[in-house]
Amino acid sequence: MRILLVGSGGREHALAWKISQSPLCEQLWTAPGNPGTAAYGENLPIAADDLDGLVAFAEENQVGLVVVGPEGPLADGLVDRLIAADIPAFGPTAEAAELESSKAFCKEVLVRHRVPTASYRVYKDLNPAVSYLEGGARYPLVVKASGLAAGKGVVICPDAATAREAVKGMLEDGLHGAAGRTVVVEEFLQGPEASAFALTDGRTILPLESCQDHKQLREGDHGPNTGGMGAISPNPQVSDRTRDTIERQILLPTVHGLNHEGRRFRGVLFAGIKLTPAGPKVLEFNVRFGDPECQVLMMRLKCDLVPYLLACANGTLEELEAPEWDPRPAVTVVLASGGYPGPYAKGEEITGLDQVEQGPGLQVFQAGTAELDGKLVTAGGRVMAVTAVGRDLDEARELAYAAAAEIHFEGKTLRRDIGQSALASLEGFA
Ligand code: AMP
Ligand code: GLY
Repeated sequence: MRILLVGSGGREHALAWKISQSPLCEQLWTAPGNPGTAAYGENLPIAADDLDGLVAFAEENQVGLVVVGPEGPLADGLVDRLIAADIPAFGPTAEAAELESSKAFCKEVLVRHRVPTASYRVYKDLNPAVSYLEGGARYPLVVKASGLAAGKGVVICPDAATAREAVKGMLEDGLHGAAGRTVVVEEFLQGPEASAFALTDGRTILPLESCQDHKQLREGDHGPNTGGMGAISPNPQVSDRTRDTIERQILLPTVHGLNHEGRRFRGVLFAGIKLTPAGPKVLEFNVRFGDPECQVLMMRLKCDLVPYLLACANGTLEELEAPEWDPRPAVTVVLASGGYPGPYAKGEEITGLDQVEQGPGLQVFQAGTAELDGKLVTAGGRVMAVTAVGRDLDEARELAYAAAAEIHFEGKTLRRDIGQSALASLEGFA
């Protein structure tokens, strides 16, 4: 089968690595891909948001499956276009993808189907928002741009002045553009975070192994929010009982609820969750794999991924057994450019990658990289994700950090504590 993968990040490098190992995969193209994905097939000079270009390529080249990595093209209706052209696609339609592209819509779905989440209000105008923020609101609270803001549309507000500033920035000053024209103001939830994923064809769901992201830039969860500075899987804070609750109270009612509303969800549903004292609650939904969660999941997935992707696209997931996982934990450590998530330099030469011995237990997944005059250089905020499995979390961490130490570029920035809070919680149980 000929497969077209859409996207260019670390998530897509991990997907390309896994997909290319499938006996079903005769040819893999990645559009536009990165220097890492080029090793498993061919990168195409078609941007991930060039819907016309992607559909035309898939039609002209008898593509049997399109796998869409990022949320942008999903929200823009790439899968709708592919379905109309009779090309199987892994990913939700634009209507189902609204779960991520409109936080206001997401909240309505959660409430309609009684899925546990923070209480909230939606505002389109400044005055009523400010009356609430300076009147009955309790602090801290969270202000969110409703639309897609590349993970930058969330402000945790300790007091009314901060909240007012945040809401004004979005509603009046046009921060985040159209994405900020509607804001969600919600209750602040306490507790550790977890990322939960399920493959689904809209009827059957297959939950994947648990993960934990590390969103903040600096050790100890300090500093600004980023796309994710590292991840581990499994997440030791997710017990079997919590897993079961997440499946029953969050994943299943959301997928079935959307189906009843005529928005059948096919692809991977990603719930960002807070493990609160009152049980797991949804922070947000995404309609794609997490980055860097995908990197640790692909490292631990033992069976072929392609039959699952196809079954989600074709509505036949019921026929497949639950996927098989490596029981050993995986850790991924993101190497970012200096300055990220703010402005950063590009074009810094990357050295030492060839010193790292890669194999089934260790992979360096590239993201913001480019080739320039035969050299590998930085080209984005998150440059690469060094991913390892180990006998235990400690060993996985050691392997990932040893490899990360071999790779050099000016401004290299990483968190040294990926998996450490999980390790501490494990020791707490010992
Ligand atoms: P989101 O993009 O909605 O997942 O928000 C990004 C990050 O902001 C989350 O991973 C949390 O760390 C934090 N956050 C969002 N909503 C809340 C909330 N209601 N309570 C506490 N923290 C939150
Ligand atoms: N790592 C979180 C995300 O992909 O949104």
